Amino acid sequence: LPGPNGCPVSSNAAAFNPFEPAYMEAPAEYLRWSREQEPVFWSPQLGYWVVTRYEDVKAVFRDNILFSPANALEKITPATPEVTQVLQRYGYAMNRTMVNEDEPDHMERRRLLTDAFLPERLVAYEPMVRALARQYMDRFIDKGRAELVSEMFYEIPLNIALKFLGVPDDGAEQLRQFAVAHTLNTWGRPTPQEQLQIAENVGRFWQTAQSILDDMRKRPDGEGWMYETIRQHLRHPDIVPESYLRSMMMAILAAAHETTSNATANAFLTLLRQREAWDAICENPALIPNAVEECLRVSGSIIAWRRVATADAVVGGVPIPKGGKLLLVQVSANFDSRHFENPEEVDLYRENAVEHMTFGYGAHQCMGKNIGRMQMRVFLEEFTRRLPHIGLVENQTIRYLPNTSFRGPDKLWVEWDPARNPERTGA
Ligand code: HEM
Repeated sequence: LPGPNGCPVSSNAAAFNPFEPAYMEAPAEYLRWSREQEPVFWSPQLGYWVVTRYEDVKAVFRDNILFSPANALEKITPATPEVTQVLQRYGYAMNRTMVNEDEPDHMERRRLLTDAFLPERLVAYEPMVRALARQYMDRFIDKGRAELVSEMFYEIPLNIALKFLGVPDDGAEQLRQFAVAHTLNTWGRPTPQEQLQIAENVGRFWQTAQSILDDMRKRPDGEGWMYETIRQHLRHPDIVPESYLRSMMMAILAAAHETTSNATANAFLTLLRQREAWDAICENPALIPNAVEECLRVSGSIIAWRRVATADAVVGGVPIPKGGKLLLVQVSANFDSRHFENPEEVDLYRENAVEHMTFGYGAHQCMGKNIGRMQMRVFLEEFTRRLPHIGLVENQTIRYLPNTSFRGPDKLWVEWDPARNPERTGA
């Protein structure tokens, strides 16, 4: 059968299914055939054009006019009428935020909301992250064993995200369930039955976000990025409209911490599986910043992102009709040997590690990238110093949420000999 541009669909392309476990387990490997033989292909199961080589992914990201981000938060599995009803019952109205806004509105908005991300503002968070990291490690350091996601990597980035946004941290428990529902709702392929359950949680997430926002609007002089957003809304309601406030409140509650939690867990898994790399950063902590980039390259927490063609276009020589939806597989780009020499190797000295596509590229490149990087660095600094002999618990099964985009292990068990700790308490 031909694809929408008339070209035949190969058997590999027809079989591509990002919701099967093999994709999440090793996404770059899963798409090796594509990088080698068919770097832009039509996926009939997804209804998307899949782009897997570095130069093509970057070229699409670079042109956000021809390739609009408007579909970035669209449900990749269309809602059934029952699901639509559930969402309507909750008044769900997710719309344009920042990440899916077109020009010229996007840039005007981004410019008004960028101050909180300036390096001089972000330095305040590093001591906070370090203090929390030490305190959380103190809780388990004498036990010799921990599940790092639930005992540390979920909560600390969440705390930092809430602090950064200015959101009070009660109800944090619920947020995890909500974030999972949001991911599956937007990037997953739940069955119609599962979708109903997910929609209830998405609806509750929406309402929780709205009530947090409404409380914050009562005292608009508060500190944090969402307060700054509220104030810019009051000054420039045309550029930062009400609907933006409402949508962003929910979207950012997930985006500001899930990404960092997952990226941290991925980094520890990557480095502990490549013992020489782990030992090298224990030996020489100056390598940690580049180790962070390498981990973001080989095991980033966002592995694929979306765009939609606003006119007939050509990507990697393949004609894409106007309206064609694209799945840019960033992690595949990050393993493209045309751009990264020996891409499978975690090379702490790699000179172009930072050129990975994990934060996107161009006008929409992640605004929070330096918050994520800083937290990953601090976690690695604290663990390599206090628990250099840490290791993965053997024979654990690493599970991922089935979806196109958000990747991180649901659990990560590690162990160590408490008697060998060079530093028992963080005090
Ligand atoms: C956008 C990844 C952490 C806030 C994005 C995009 C990606 C991404 C792929 C879309 C880029 C594009 O379309 O070109 C990540 C990863 C993170 C992370 C992998 C952690 C390791 C954060 C944090 C925050 C944040 C901590 C906020 C505190 C944003 C915002 C945008 C964005 C506001 C929209 C930017 C725009 O459209 O102009 N991020 N992110 N991110 N991210 Fe992140």
